[in-house]
Amino acid sequence: MTALSVSTSSAASLRADVLVIGVAKGPKGLIVAAGAEAVVEAFEGKLAEVLTTLGATGAEGEAVKLPAPAGLKAPLVLAVGLGEAADGAFGAEELRKAAGVAARTLAGTKKVALALPTDDVEAVALGALLGSYAFGTYKAESKAPVAELVVLTDRKGSKDAKAAVERATVLGEEMNRARDLVNTAPNDLNPKSFATIAQAAGKEHGLKVEVLDEKALTKGGFGGLLGVGNGSTNPPRLVKVAYTHPKAKASLAFVGKGITYDSGGISLKPAGHNETMKCDMAGAAAVFAAVVAAKRLGLQVNVTAWLALAENMPSGTATRPGDVLRMYGGKTVEVLNTDAEGRLVLADAIVRAGEEQPDVIVDVATLTGAMVLALGNRTFGVMANDDALRTQLHEAAGAVGEASWPMPLPADLRKGMVESTIADLANMGERMGGGLVAGLFLKEFVAEGIDWAHIDIAGPAFNEGGPFGYTPKGGTASAVRTLVRFAEETAAGK
Ligand code: BES
Ligand code: MN
Ligand code: ZN
Repeated sequence: MTALSVSTSSAASLRADVLVIGVAKGPKGLIVAAGAEAVVEAFEGKLAEVLTTLGATGAEGEAVKLPAPAGLKAPLVLAVGLGEAADGAFGAEELRKAAGVAARTLAGTKKVALALPTDDVEAVALGALLGSYAFGTYKAESKAPVAELVVLTDRKGSKDAKAAVERATVLGEEMNRARDLVNTAPNDLNPKSFATIAQAAGKEHGLKVEVLDEKALTKGGFGGLLGVGNGSTNPPRLVKVAYTHPKAKASLAFVGKGITYDSGGISLKPAGHNETMKCDMAGAAAVFAAVVAAKRLGLQVNVTAWLALAENMPSGTATRPGDVLRMYGGKTVEVLNTDAEGRLVLADAIVRAGEEQPDVIVDVATLTGAMVLALGNRTFGVMANDDALRTQLHEAAGAVGEASWPMPLPADLRKGMVESTIADLANMGERMGGGLVAGLFLKEFVAEGIDWAHIDIAGPAFNEGGPFGYTPKGGTASAVRTLVRFAEETAAGK
């Protein structure tokens, strides 16, 4: 695990293997960003010129190495691009991405010092920690991540800087925990082993964890979880992870879709569509990471995470298209397509979460391919039964550097799910607007009077392309920061 600290030493005097500086695109060519003054001095004012000669432009994603001149304690300098310089100031997301690129580029290095602009120490620290992430569980030989990251800052405000680094450590470690869960192969991560991991982490951080196994789920009448899990030899689980603060004035329920593998079930997915379906528990990983982070940050709010865990497999005992399930709370659902399983496990968990009368329920799910078609691979959709809540979540996402977009729940799309079925509801409706249909299905299970939002992370949860910024290949920990930010806003009475 990468260690993160803050130092007020000058960039020239700190001993490190590599010194990272920021460069940007100015109106007249490359400019060296603030924080690197001592490096500019060591290069006798020629740094921008040298970097330009090496081909650097300051563009986002760029990383150029050069040997350090005498006068610096580090033998190597890495210049990372911050993109366009808008009057010399850089946004948090630009800093996060640049720090992420630096940490990723420098994998294998022992000690890295970051002399980037100090406008936002937390952003630099978080980006670096996220960029250091590597998933080496199954590889005989894998490059070790940077062992030690030191964020440099000027002396003033160094106490704030320390707090910022501590916060970044919590967020980074919990996001990397979510990434590990998503990346773990589905033959190792199943509902039972996920529940065991949740119990262990709960113990470590002082959270209350309750697990309903298949027996308890049967007794409780959780027809959605049981119906989806029926085809698998790995039975389902509903896991409740509770964080309470003695002075909390509000309670939040975060519900996560935790399909540890989605084959589609009897409505089997075609080849080419199931290779990455271990990622179908990314919602559960996100809500789990968020509740642990809320606890470690000591937020003055109650947060309960509900992990709806099941494996969706075809077999002689699997739910058939045409079966009717009786969901937790009593509503019946005709399963017209067993590949629309996420909404079934979520419905049970949303009803159960609602029984505890939280102020807000937010569910997070890799729910629909339609949302990926609508918004692409890097943006999640936000739906809600309350306009202000949807706006708040969209803005909270923006504030922490997560791309999102508000989506509607058009009433006319509900008809297709009600009129096509012999039960109260079908688990499928019109094909057009499939992401919204799924949202409308979930809305049916939200108790009267509770504000609810649905975040569909099917696009950004899993990065099938190459790494970029602080985002690795594979699990991304999408929505974790947004949930934590939302919990912080709630704690602050917003
Ligand atoms: N887990 C999938 C959605 C998904 C697709 C997640 C791509 C990540 C990437 C979900 O369970 C699913 O199969 N949804 C179906 C619903 C349809 C059958 C109504 C879909 O979107 O095709
Ligand atoms: Mn599915
Ligand atoms: Zn699924």
